[in-house]
Amino acid sequence: MRFPLRRLNREDVEADATGARLARTPAAQNGTPERRLYAGRKLSRARTIADLRAMAHRRLPAFAVEYLEGGSEEEATLSRNLAALASWRLLPRALVDVSRRDQSVALLGRAMPLPFAIAPTGLNGLFWRKADVLLARAAAQAGVPFAQSTMSNDAMEEVAAVPGLRHWWQLYAFGERPIRDALVARAERAGCEALVITVDAQFYGDREWEQRRFAHPGRLTMPSILESALHPHWIATTLSGGMPSFANDVGYVPKDKRGFFDSAFWIRANMDHSLDWNEAARLRALWPRKFLIKGILNANDAERAQRIGADGVVLSNHGGRQLDWTISSLDVLPEARRRVGSQFTLVVDGGMRRGTDVLKALALGANAVFLGRATLYGLAAAGESGVTRAVDIMREEIDRDLGLLGAASVKELDASFLAR
Ligand SMILES: Cc1cc2nc3c(=O)[nH]c(=O)nc-3n(C[C@H](O)[C@H](O)[C@H](O)COP(=O)(O)O)c2cc1C
Repeated sequence: MRFPLRRLNREDVEADATGARLARTPAAQNGTPERRLYAGRKLSRARTIADLRAMAHRRLPAFAVEYLEGGSEEEATLSRNLAALASWRLLPRALVDVSRRDQSVALLGRAMPLPFAIAPTGLNGLFWRKADVLLARAAAQAGVPFAQSTMSNDAMEEVAAVPGLRHWWQLYAFGERPIRDALVARAERAGCEALVITVDAQFYGDREWEQRRFAHPGRLTMPSILESALHPHWIATTLSGGMPSFANDVGYVPKDKRGFFDSAFWIRANMDHSLDWNEAARLRALWPRKFLIKGILNANDAERAQRIGADGVVLSNHGGRQLDWTISSLDVLPEARRRVGSQFTLVVDGGMRRGTDVLKALALGANAVFLGRATLYGLAAAGESGVTRAVDIMREEIDRDLGLLGAASVKELDASFLAR
């Protein structure tokens, strides 16, 4: 008998012979009673992020599931993100008046109603047509920032036009400097509130099971292509306008490499391996608004980012997709907070799927968290309304969990609410 401590890993959520998703939890002993995730089409029946994940798995072709889920190599970093969250337990307080609960926070000097933002993710167009715009719309409606990736598929200006959006641009340093400088200038013209430079992906982490889907760079294997054909709903909602493209970068890619996968592989192969603190400081000086460095996993680096004038860092291991066997960003959070003081922004990400995950991160000193896969599951399950459902699930869980914890506001949270 196996009692997983908490969330469901891939091995814990498998399709049975009838295609139903079975979840093993402590309440399901030796498989009885079966606990089922919802994997149908009715969004309102998705109760948890895990349901949205099951819906996404059902709708997407296998190669897209593997791209979405995959961690690098042994996936030890990916597992650590979950284990680090699981290693903290909550210490509830009794008899506290929690008739009003407040989960609003200030991020980069602006108030927002929820303590999370949507993380930058590339190739969103594999999950739904116009996915970046849909994520941005759902974020704007919820009043949270959306960080658009350099590897996004919709034009920056189109995303910037979403009313009420807090639009952040995530920069990858690829190719020669004039390319990144042009992207930075464009983000400034588009009115982006913040520039987020990602520094943990100058080499592409080897997500092996996704790579096995390719016969050679840029070409899916024939079985993967045939398997994709078995997902007509995905085809109709994702590919009906043709294959997506990297709307913001494709002009920098050689003409014979402009296919969807070809250009992704070309950009990956042309990341700037010389990116260093001098270049980060140069970009800081170039950019007139808020500046964050994403992919920091070390308290010394958080301090160094502060010294070059960054407004904050995103403590992140890229959702376990880059260097394997790293610590979790949660592991470095208390020390990073101690070093940078209370005014410097710390966003943390990795494995956030539950309200309690967010409360733990805030109690350890984060200003807010980034949701990566959580909102992508919603997107891949049902497009914009799926993202909104993911946001609503997180909001409802945080609200209920605050009440259960005996904290009227996320501002009260600190390490005294936690035990190892
Ligand atoms: C499918 C996918 C694509 C991603 N693409 C990018 C990207 O283009 N730029 C970036 O800075 N981070 C990227 N990330 C990392 C996320 O920004 C974030 O750090 C990570 O997803 C957090 O972990 P979580 O998915 O467990 O929430 C990606 C993550 C996923 C899952």
